[in-house]
Amino acid sequence: MKRQKVYIETYGCQMNVADTEIVLRILTQSGYTHVTCIDEADIVLINTCAVRENAEQRVVGRIATFHRLKRVRPIVIGVLGCIAEHQREKMWEIDDGIDFIVGPDEYRKLPSLIEAAQRGERGIAVQLSRVETYEDIEPLRTEGISAWIAIMRGCDKFCSYCVVPYTRGRERSRSLNGIIKEVENLVARGFKEVTLLGQNVNAYRDGAYDFADLLREVAQVDRSLRVRFTTSHPFDMSEKLIDTIAEYPNICNFIHLPVQSGSNRILELMNRTYTVEHYRHLVHKIRERIPSVALSTDIIAGFPTESQEDHLMTLALLEEIQFDGAFMFRYSPREHTKAWSMFDDVPDHVKIERLNEIIELQRSITLRKNEALVGTVVEVLVEGPSKKSPTDYCGRTETNKMVVFPYTGQAIGDYCSIAIRSANAATLFGVDEKQVQPSSCIAQERSMVL
Ligand code: SAH
Ligand code: SF4
Ligand code: F3S
Repeated sequence: MKRQKVYIETYGCQMNVADTEIVLRILTQSGYTHVTCIDEADIVLINTCAVRENAEQRVVGRIATFHRLKRVRPIVIGVLGCIAEHQREKMWEIDDGIDFIVGPDEYRKLPSLIEAAQRGERGIAVQLSRVETYEDIEPLRTEGISAWIAIMRGCDKFCSYCVVPYTRGRERSRSLNGIIKEVENLVARGFKEVTLLGQNVNAYRDGAYDFADLLREVAQVDRSLRVRFTTSHPFDMSEKLIDTIAEYPNICNFIHLPVQSGSNRILELMNRTYTVEHYRHLVHKIRERIPSVALSTDIIAGFPTESQEDHLMTLALLEEIQFDGAFMFRYSPREHTKAWSMFDDVPDHVKIERLNEIIELQRSITLRKNEALVGTVVEVLVEGPSKKSPTDYCGRTETNKMVVFPYTGQAIGDYCSIAIRSANAATLFGVDEKQVQPSSCIAQERSMVL
């Protein structure tokens, strides 16, 4: 029988990217073929994100496009991920073109859901689990140098604005041994970088082992493997973890540490469980212990009751901390969350204004920080051709800064020393140090030949 072809589109965070790799393994093991062109597909899947309303709208728009395709030829449409979990009734009722809906903890059911759909039965599988980690399923990764590894699932933090605890359920961790085996396999296959993923990696636990122990073990697998992780919650970032990052040169000196707001009153309403003072102290400790560290953050503008004064405190904190980068969002009320029932009293235009001010300030800080690197030499892990200019290659520093440089034969996965010549707020531009003084090097070589 001809193999059926599966196409999948992924939205949202890296956790969803990692889940898509698990889904693809489950399906290819059941005899399906993965295709990257929707026009070839028999089964069209969309792995969705519910974190903000605009993420949801994008997905709803995409599903409408799939429907138009379904009118031309018989395809199966499946909605996966966080919207499937969060808006299951709404999706189910408004849209009978969707063949099945499956939440993040039920992907093992995908083969049977697809078969049922092809018999004309619609399906829904949205149970959340306290134990499912897909530990035994090796993600189907596209070859490359960088891999995502989900080390845990779910979140128990219940920040008042956030839908994730409802879409992904309770926190649970994979075994340390299982993760180490996966890292060893990746190294053997030539991967050069891993990112350990969890909504709050500090909550990782396997018996007596905590996240710092896991990080240390991963770093020891291969000293040339770059180890990254995301996301750390500022409440339970331990000194042991900071020390571990400081101790191992291959654990990248880059920490994403979402602060969300610069106002203690708002932080409390957000149920973030720390104060600005705690955060400031934590940053101080991190910088003291790891002087070359880069920090990034997340900010929400216009949380319910946020006053102009609260907003100014956020701007002041950004100015004070000087983050290397930030993801900045306008507050978006999400059903089922605690903040959903708070009065969303900040008018849209004010949210937008505040967000723009935050973006503008952070952009200038990032630019300043990047410009300070002009004239220095940075180590870059080469990722491949630059998206914007075909004659250039690109790669990242351990501090997660994108660097673009002329291609002069560098291999993907190599570490190169790049002399930085210029910078904007998004990218550093430089030349491979080996090429910086080519004339003198060539002259020397020639004289040796002669
Ligand atoms: N677990 C991670 C973040 C997950 S969601 C952490 O706690 O750091 C990524 C970011 O989306 C959050 O940090 C927050 O800034 C933003 N976010 C989450 N829910 C939101 C909402 N309802 N409105 C606006 N931004 C939101
Ligand atoms: Fe959401 Fe807070 Fe959990 Fe992050 S820590 S996923 S923001 S509830
Ligand atoms: Fe979105 Fe779900 Fe991730 S809501 S941010 S895809 S955990």
